[in-house]
Amino acid sequence: MCGIIGVTGDTAALETIFDGLRRLEYRGYDSAGVALVDGGAIWRERAADGTHSVEDLAVAVAAAPRSATGIGHTRWATHGAPSVQNAHPHVDCTGRVALVHNGIIENHAELAAPLLARGHVLSSETDTEVLAHLLEEELARGAGLAEAMRSTLGQLRGAFSVVALTSEDPTLIVAARRAVPLLAALGEARGFVASDVSALLGRADRYFALDDDQVVEVRPGSLRVTTLAGDEVDPTVVGVDPSWDVVAAQKGGFDDFMSKEIHEQPRAIADTLLDRRANDGSIVLDELHLSPDELRAVDKVVVVACGSSFHAGMVAKYAIERWARLPTEVEIASELRYREPVLHERTLVVGVSQSGETLDTLEALREARRSGARTLVVSNVVHSTMAREADGIVYTRAGPEVSVASTKCHVAQIVALEVLALALAQWRGTMGPSALASTLDELHRLPAAVGEALGRAKEVEDVVDVLVGARDYFFLGRNLGYPVALEGALKLKEISYLRAEGYPAGELKHGPLALVEPGTVVVAVLDPLRDKMRSNVAEAAARGATVVVLTTDDDTDPPGDHVLRVPAVRDPVLAPVVEVVPLQLLAYGLARRLGNDVDRPRNLAKTVTVE
Ligand code: F6R
Repeated sequence: MCGIIGVTGDTAALETIFDGLRRLEYRGYDSAGVALVDGGAIWRERAADGTHSVEDLAVAVAAAPRSATGIGHTRWATHGAPSVQNAHPHVDCTGRVALVHNGIIENHAELAAPLLARGHVLSSETDTEVLAHLLEEELARGAGLAEAMRSTLGQLRGAFSVVALTSEDPTLIVAARRAVPLLAALGEARGFVASDVSALLGRADRYFALDDDQVVEVRPGSLRVTTLAGDEVDPTVVGVDPSWDVVAAQKGGFDDFMSKEIHEQPRAIADTLLDRRANDGSIVLDELHLSPDELRAVDKVVVVACGSSFHAGMVAKYAIERWARLPTEVEIASELRYREPVLHERTLVVGVSQSGETLDTLEALREARRSGARTLVVSNVVHSTMAREADGIVYTRAGPEVSVASTKCHVAQIVALEVLALALAQWRGTMGPSALASTLDELHRLPAAVGEALGRAKEVEDVVDVLVGARDYFFLGRNLGYPVALEGALKLKEISYLRAEGYPAGELKHGPLALVEPGTVVVAVLDPLRDKMRSNVAEAAARGATVVVLTTDDDTDPPGDHVLRVPAVRDPVLAPVVEVVPLQLLAYGLARRLGNDVDRPRNLAKTVTVE
């Protein structure tokens, strides 16, 4: 995945591009590049310096010409190493066309062979560069850039968003997408395209979503959208969530976005819970777009997601089964796609995705819809592709999450899924009004409990002091503690690069215990099966592991070498929201101590729009 931006009619085009690239870096940062239309030619500069690429590029462009039209790119490498040669923008043989791309052109090798045979010189190892040469051939035949783009896209397999410009038409940028996010936008006498809205905040005032295989021609103050066949279509206007303002996308006094976002969790939960209760005490989900009757007809729920969102989905399984008494499966999205799942019109498939753009989840939802299932999305991004395509939506209201490691979106997802589970219970009649009301009250107490857990950061820091130097971690949990353990392990490996496995504690003795030895750290989430967990802690301690236990304030006699406590939550289904906090802080503390860039961990990107 990569971040892309295009600008026209902007006297400060370069500044706008850099501002956008800095806000898009969460999508990838192996390398970065920019191209500007300069009189009758294209001027280009690229840099590849890992997490510093955009800043290095900003220095390298000191001698850039003044231009009102340009494109920029920040890359997460898929095809070809992260190097200057492979960095975007890519240009054609004549130097008249430059383009940036996000996604994967699956048939790039097939397309490259005839181009090479016709004498084109490809100077990178990317799947992208063929596009520049295909556009070159179309332009040589007399096509305009938009027409060239339409006929080129028809030849492509894969998922992509692409933005191109040509020195022949200096005020025009042309962009298109398939299965990868891209927005067009207009401001006063200016035009833009970008991978997401954060890149354009404060500059554009009207935003437009593009559907698959639509091509947009953007000029200063105007745009035109066509299908691949060349038919003009009305662009879809999208609103921007007012909480996504420029301030929300800045660090606001914290050292990094991750700590800011960890500390924003009480607000993210509270906002996600806003307006979910009607005057009569019943649960309302305004954006759901699925009627109670439609939901009553459901006889199975399948939750699909990736990474941290998958862990939130695991908690949802407990909530939906316990409260709504509906059989619920949770599946990794990339696994569901390629088997033959039994889905039909009585199945509700719930996609959980902070970005609403993760390709594996998007395609799993599309597969579900083809099977006749109803689809519902829990997303943090209004008008994301998943939100636009699904039958129903429940938004998390966490505000922009910039750090690659998900924190506030993860807890907001659990809360949104739990509200959904309560709504299902209400409509199915599996919970009475007073049980619903008291669980909703308990949900409303979570921001305070999370705030209290955050207030104990010093206790976590003390444990970090002891653990620095350890290299092998097991995170153990049972039942609702298991997704918490998985999330703790994922956070740690993502940002600290330490080996961390999340395991169901009961499985330890069936194999992994062989790995436990002096020097191994075992982090044990004691609740909700505290007594069983005590035995597993004892098994690990007997093999010399250093044991950190995570337990609640009411635990009078916790085992282990070090104890992290969180406030007790009455309903165990809600507890993961609070329990995950010290594990986020632990991962954060260890990663900082190791000198890592916590916001931009190596090899990762925030929005994963490749398979
Ligand atoms: C981990 C993390 C990832 C995402 C995953 C899904 O901290 O952020 O594991 O949870 O890539 O992303 P979304 O939720 O955008 O579909």
